[in-house]
Amino acid sequence: MIDKIKSLLREVENLKAANAEELESLRIKYLSKKGEISQLMNDFRNVTADQKREVGILLNQLKEEAQQRIGELREKFENASAHDRKIDLTRTAYPVPLGTRHPLSIVKKEICDIFARLGFSIAEGPEIEDDWHVFTSLNFAEDHPARDMQDTFFVQHSPDILLRTHTSSVQTRVMERQQPPIRIICPGRVYRNEAISYRAHCFFHQVEALYVDKNVSFADLKQTLLYMAKELFGTETKIRLRPSYFPFTEPSAEMDISCNLCGGKGCAFCKHTGWVEILGCGMVDPNVLENCGIDSKIYSGYALGMGIERITNLKYQVKDLRMFSENDIRFLKQFESAN
Ligand code: DAH
Repeated sequence: MIDKIKSLLREVENLKAANAEELESLRIKYLSKKGEISQLMNDFRNVTADQKREVGILLNQLKEEAQQRIGELREKFENASAHDRKIDLTRTAYPVPLGTRHPLSIVKKEICDIFARLGFSIAEGPEIEDDWHVFTSLNFAEDHPARDMQDTFFVQHSPDILLRTHTSSVQTRVMERQQPPIRIICPGRVYRNEAISYRAHCFFHQVEALYVDKNVSFADLKQTLLYMAKELFGTETKIRLRPSYFPFTEPSAEMDISCNLCGGKGCAFCKHTGWVEILGCGMVDPNVLENCGIDSKIYSGYALGMGIERITNLKYQVKDLRMFSENDIRFLKQFESAN
C-alpha cells in the first residue's frame, strides 16, 4: 500500500491538464468519492496497527498534494478564460448607474420629431451672435428695447456681439445661404438679462420653425399649429390665435391652447380662462425675406417660436423654472419613464 501511495504521489506532483475538461476528469480520478484516494482511505481500515502511523501521514500528504495541484490548475484555467473573453478585470465591480434624459431634452426631441414628420429638418446656429442676425435682419427698429443692455447680454460693442435673445436668428442664418423651399426647425439656448426667479431665468430654450416656399399661407400655419398642439397635448386639444406684434412677422399672432390641466373648464393654472399661451407666430415679413436675399414677390413663409421650458411646465407642471438648471438628481430621476 505504501508503494501505491508513493507512486500516486509522484503522479499527482506532475499532473498536467490541457483544458478544463481534462482537469475535471483528473479531479474525478483522484478526489471524487469513488476516486483513487477515497479508495485508499477505505483500505486504511485493513492496515496493520504498526503501519497505521506511516500510512496515515503519507495518505494525508497525497490528499493535500492532489487538492493543491488541482486547485492550481483550476486557477490557471479561470484566469486564462477571463483573458480570452477580454474581460477588463480593472473595472469597478459596482454597476455604473445610468443617467436619465433631461426633461427639456425630452420635450425638445418630442417637438423636433413632430416637425420632422411634417418634413422639417433641424438647423442650428451660434449662441454668440451679431446684431444683424438677432435684430437688424429681423426688422427690429433702431430703438427697439431688446437692443438695450437692460434686456440683452452684450459681449462687445461696435461692432455689437451679443448672446442671442431668441432662436429666430437661425432663420436668417439659413435663409442667407439657402433659397426656398426652406422647412427648418431650430432648437437652442437663448439668453436674456433677467433677474433669476421661479418664473424667469437668464437663459432658457426655444424652438423656432420656419417654412418658406411659393404660396405659403396663413392657413398652412394654422393647420401646422393645430397638428402640433394635438400631437403634443392630446387629440382633444383646441387652439386659438390672438392678433399680436413681432417685428419679423406680418401679420403676427400668439397661440393659446385649451388648458390641458382642466380641459378648458377654467382652473388656477389658466387663471380661470380655460386657455394658456404657448407660442408666437406669423407670416414672415417681406422685409425679412428681402434682407436675406429671398424674393418676397415670389416667395412667402410662416414662422413660429416657442419656449421649451413653458411647454415642459405645461406637460409636467414644474412650478419653479430654476429646477431645470440645478441638476438635482431627485428632480431629474422623476423623468426616467418619460425617456
Ligand atoms: N422670437 C420670439 C420670442 O423670442 C418668438 C417668435 C414669435 C418667433 C413669432 C417667431 C415668430 O418665429 O413668428 O419671443
